[in-house]
Amino acid sequence: MRPKRALLATATLAVAGALTVGMTLAMAPSASAGTTLRAAAAEKGRYFGAAVATGKLSTSTYTTILNREFNSIVAENEMKWDATEPQQGRFSYTGGDRIVSHAQANGMSVRGHALLWHQQEPGWAQGMSGSALRSAMINHVTQVATHFRGKIYAWDVVNEAFADGGSGGRRDSNLQRTGNDWIEAAFRAARAADPGAKLCYNDYNTDGVNAKSTGVYNMVRDFKSRGVPIDCVGFQSHLGTTIPGDYQANLKRFADLGVEVQITELDVMTGGNQANIFGTVTRSCMAIPQCAGITVWGVRDCDSWRGSDNALLFDCNGNKKPAYDSVLNALNAGPGNPTTTPPNPTTTPPNPTTTPPNPTTPPPGGAGCSASVSLNSWTGGFVATVKVTAGSSGTRGWTVSVTLPGGTSVTGTWSATASGNSGTVRFTNVDYNGALGAGQSTEFGFQGTGSAAGVTPTCTAS
Ligand code: XIL
Repeated sequence: MRPKRALLATATLAVAGALTVGMTLAMAPSASAGTTLRAAAAEKGRYFGAAVATGKLSTSTYTTILNREFNSIVAENEMKWDATEPQQGRFSYTGGDRIVSHAQANGMSVRGHALLWHQQEPGWAQGMSGSALRSAMINHVTQVATHFRGKIYAWDVVNEAFADGGSGGRRDSNLQRTGNDWIEAAFRAARAADPGAKLCYNDYNTDGVNAKSTGVYNMVRDFKSRGVPIDCVGFQSHLGTTIPGDYQANLKRFADLGVEVQITELDVMTGGNQANIFGTVTRSCMAIPQCAGITVWGVRDCDSWRGSDNALLFDCNGNKKPAYDSVLNALNAGPGNPTTTPPNPTTTPPNPTTTPPNPTTPPPGGAGCSASVSLNSWTGGFVATVKVTAGSSGTRGWTVSVTLPGGTSVTGTWSATASGNSGTVRFTNVDYNGALGAGQSTEFGFQGTGSAAGVTPTCTAS
């Protein structure tokens, strides 16, 4: 027999339940609330991503959560320098390609992580310095960004280059010792190799206004003022049991410089505040129109690099934690995003610098073209970006000739085919960028050893 007390309690709950339903209906916003992280984020023009280890893609609990909840992924290790160039000049893309194809098959965009980082350098690079290392690192950026060209939403071009503590300056590393301009050289090479990818600087302990984040801020401001190509700043947000009170204000000051901001490696130590901190991070991103999205650094607690911190949104059995609800609610409560469009995960983004050939109506040839070169040089090497502009009749194809000084040679070319590598070198269009309409432009690039200062390109149209 059921005691009377329990019946009463049930009746009270039923009334309360009816009231709640009525209120919810009355207050329901016109857009439906997302029931997964990816749907809720997408509804607000953002992405929600996770770091993925390819070795776990065959674990069904893992992959089920990944595909249901996330619309962006990043390789936890597979696109790092040690993984992609284990021996100098020999590239290995198996893991990275696996990440990209998983993303394409499941409607996800891809963050590329990371072209240059003082950690997880391959052994051969750890032993290098000076101009040899500078050339090797630029070649690495060029090759890897070219391989993944058109498939990456945003690249962490440089990771963790600033020092901890109060200096606000750069961290010492073999990369830094090649010269303070190594970061801008890397960004220029990445832009030349994949003009469609957003290029980010990414770091940790930059999650509030402090000496380190201000150092990064000053670099970004300087890059913007000098036209160094930078599009975004990543805030790793590996957090403990507290979050800086100026977390949102810090994101905002970067956004005000004209860069996108992204939360790139979020995880939070377990404890009473975990759900609140995850919620605060999400609300902060949602409050900044230029905050494109959030990536958590793993799927379940036991996938995390943070050992026993239980730092993620799902427990080891794949159950949603309170932190999950906190993030989902914050996404659903956030404003829409008027200024950024979410990355389109299913289609390859167009390449803004090349003009697709038009096979049915080729433009008339023979009326000329012009070329100009911009150089990114350091002692012993350079990257050249060449802009080819068609004359009034357009081009079917083009050739740009460059005469290099003695001792200078070309070591790599993209978006063109080079004949020879020293003296007078001729660069001819590849199949997709030869046909230019009147006044249209395309870009190709090459890198080399020695100096290309003062070279004048000449363009011939066909
Ligand atoms: C970590 C990975 O999660 C580990 O599997 C690996 O052993 C070391 O690197 N900052 C970064 C990430 O930018 O690449 C790091 O990832 C975590 C800290």
